[in-house]
Amino acid sequence: MAEPSYSLVNNSTGEKIDLPAVTGTLGAPGLDVRQLYRDAGVFTYDPGFKATCSCSSAITFIDGEKGVLLFRGYPVEQLAEKSSFIEVAYLILHGELPTATQLEVFDHSIHTHTMINEALRRFFDGFHYDAHPMAMMTGVVGSMSAFYHDTTNSKDPKQREIFAHRMIAKIPTIAAAAYKKYFGQPFVYPRNDLDYCSNLLHMMFAVPAEPYEVDPVAAKALDILFMLHTDHEQNASTSTVRLAGSTGCNPYAAIAAGIAALWGPAHGGANEAVLKMLGEIGSVKNIPAFLDKVKDKNSGIRLMGFGHRVYKNFDPRARIIRDQCHKVLERLGDKNDQLLELAMKLEEIALSDDYFVAHKLYPNVDFYSGIIYKALGIPTNMFTPMFAVARTVGWVANWMEMMADPTAVIGRPRQVYTGADTRNYIPLAKR
Ligand code: CMC
Repeated sequence: MAEPSYSLVNNSTGEKIDLPAVTGTLGAPGLDVRQLYRDAGVFTYDPGFKATCSCSSAITFIDGEKGVLLFRGYPVEQLAEKSSFIEVAYLILHGELPTATQLEVFDHSIHTHTMINEALRRFFDGFHYDAHPMAMMTGVVGSMSAFYHDTTNSKDPKQREIFAHRMIAKIPTIAAAAYKKYFGQPFVYPRNDLDYCSNLLHMMFAVPAEPYEVDPVAAKALDILFMLHTDHEQNASTSTVRLAGSTGCNPYAAIAAGIAALWGPAHGGANEAVLKMLGEIGSVKNIPAFLDKVKDKNSGIRLMGFGHRVYKNFDPRARIIRDQCHKVLERLGDKNDQLLELAMKLEEIALSDDYFVAHKLYPNVDFYSGIIYKALGIPTNMFTPMFAVARTVGWVANWMEMMADPTAVIGRPRQVYTGADTRNYIPLAKR
């Protein structure tokens, strides 16, 4: 099949400029406009990157119209049914499913890098008692390069690999430490005999005063949630990691930038916002009045957990999580959870409402994830940190991919300037 070709015509001069198309394996091609300014003296204008590919990547593919999500080519539904978070982490990092030996080696490496430097742990003492866990995570991860000097040379593939394992292994320890700080409980050291999610639950919920048994149902539910959240192509936080990383900064700083970006309510902060919203709605009878406010542009209120920049049909992750939600609540004996009932009714009413249909707004991954977190006993302000733990895999993989790409350059968008025209300085006395 011939390569698609595009050209741009300057309507004033009739001059034609050819724009080569960059084609991938799946999805729409991207027009290569890198020489546009040189050839035509214009930039492209796309605030919010609604139609701009910032890179090419072989990690994740999304078809937003069909509701398809592939990690390294594997449909997320198959992975959620048959795989595990740690296997998917390997897949995302390495591009292929591991053999039994490769999985064992990888899992062992992650298991044995869980501790954080004691001085780094003491950072938590310096935070105010009610600091948001995301604020603590951003600060602590941003400080990691001060402790792990042997992994700051991003040009060295071996250092990159050690960084990747270290980051994925330590992020649950950091998230759990932020949780303990917030609740004024003593820090709980990791247990390397536990799997990834069981260890996180242990570090969050165990206390020195009494024994703690990890609930396997809770660990499994968390494992599936984490698997679904590992990566999601060039979302805001991943793009932030890439942009920061493109400057050559140390990788921990790039991940800290990603954590900061994830925190926003339009992105990873939405799972926390959904629970707050459900709490405010309070009961099924208040849904119509709440939806009226959402539809009123002047109210500034959005239906949190609904809508997505890419998915305009349905979010496949939301479907899986919705099913999981029922299973988890049933197995944890929380069958009649009122929040779930409220969420399902809200979903039902919104999906049959003209506004949401016309705007192609469907529940996204965050609409249901908070309900599962809540059922697992995880407090609302830890929802986004949970997302950050899982997404660390995607951030690391994207950073690694960019670092291994010899053609990668610093990210530096242009702008259309709308400020004052050139003018002369007026001395203070004359203003
Ligand atoms: N509630 C009400 N109206 C909405 C919503 C919503 N949740 N989302 C979009 N719209 C409307 C918006 O008002 C606009 O209407 P109009 O064309 O009449 O002016 C139209 O839909 C397009 O909105 P947009 O903001 O241009 O769409 P976007 O693709 O830039 O935004 C989004 C995507 C996720 C930021 C947005 O849908 C949103 O704010 N959703 C709520 C927050 C949320 O759940 N975020 C989690 C996203 S999934 C997980 C993640 O990425 O971390």
